[in-house]
Amino acid sequence: MNVRLNLLFAALLGLTATTAMAAAAPDAATLAKGHSLFENNCSACHQAHGEGMPGVFPNLAKSDFLAADPQRAVHFVLHGHSGQITVNGVTYDGTMPDVGASLSNQDVADILTYVLNSWGNPGGQIQPDAVAQIRSGGNSGSGSGATEGGSKK
Ligand code: HEC
Repeated sequence: MNVRLNLLFAALLGLTATTAMAAAAPDAATLAKGHSLFENNCSACHQAHGEGMPGVFPNLAKSDFLAADPQRAVHFVLHGHSGQITVNGVTYDGTMPDVGASLSNQDVADILTYVLNSWGNPGGQIQPDAVAQIRSGGNSGSGSGATEGGSKK
């Protein structure tokens, strides 16, 4: 086998991967806006770096609950939530208020996009259209699948 050809191929593969990642990343303006909205609406409970307070406010940083179903997080923000949930093996039985009820679809999308791209979370992007759909009661797919999301490894 030709070593130089292999090297070239490896370099090309690397280049493709970098380009794909860049295309998937949300733009800096969205993240900056999401960041300040997060500080105003979420960090009082979930803390500045999403670390939460074990047993009281669940972590958003590296949350397996969030990663399993980001659409479900839109429900939490728009409608609040009370009842038992398990995040990274810790059980919470608190109440989150419907903070997003007074925010625009764009604001809710930007906050969650920021959260998904921060503190070791897996990335991704929430679109305002998806928020609008969930706000109006459309259950875009997260209903039946949601119970399977939290399964333990
Ligand atoms: C008044 C405190 C409070 C505020 C403000 C708040 N939350 Fe929560 N949040 C909670 C509590 C408590 C829970 C757990 C609810 C339960 O036990 O059912 C929770 C759960 C969550 C979850 C699901 C669990 C997890 O860790 O993945 C997400 C996602 C979330 N909140 C995101 C947000 C975002 C984004 C904001 C800001 C728009 C926000 N929260 C504002 C208290 C709060």
